[in-house]
Amino acid sequence: MAKKKSGKKSKHPFLTDVETLRKRARQHIEQGAVTEGYRGNRETMVKILNEALATEIVCVLRYKRHYFMASGINAQSVAGEFLQHATEEQVHADQISQRIVQLGGEPNLSPEGMLSRSHSEYVEGTTLRSMIEEDLVAERVAIDSYREMIGYAGNNDPTTRRMLEGILAMEEEHADDLVSLLEELRD
Ligand SMILES: [Fe+2]
Ligand SMILES: [Fe+2]
Repeated sequence: MAKKKSGKKSKHPFLTDVETLRKRARQHIEQGAVTEGYRGNRETMVKILNEALATEIVCVLRYKRHYFMASGINAQSVAGEFLQHATEEQVHADQISQRIVQLGGEPNLSPEGMLSRSHSEYVEGTTLRSMIEEDLVAERVAIDSYREMIGYAGNNDPTTRRMLEGILAMEEEHADDLVSLLEELRD
């Protein structure tokens, strides 16, 4: 009979046995949610997430600006849409900050350099149409960069990947909303 290896594998070849899992969990317990099994590069992931965080904050600010300006030019329904997007971008920013902390990093919320860390731009726009167009461009930039980030997270960090997939789905909804608003303006 072959000698049993010391508690490395269970009957299921892809599962780690309970004893090994428990032992691993006790090592480096100060790392919280990040265990030995984390296969991503934590530093790179935190850096990437901080860029996404800056992007979300810049989006919150741009949508807020557009909300107040659109309210001024008496476009209540469009203004309402801007406000809703601003609120949802803030939720994304909070989710990302929370994940950064879970990964042992620090969310960079410093206003200094925020715009250069952000993937999307802060464009004020002059007319209702130009505001919507700028927001659409920003959403499309966000959609592409989230898609790339999801590819990076892959199977190495499924928790971050799932969060990013949720955010991506909402950015796609935002882009859709903006296209509808542009179509309504055309009528
Ligand atoms: Fe967002
Ligand atoms: Fe968005």
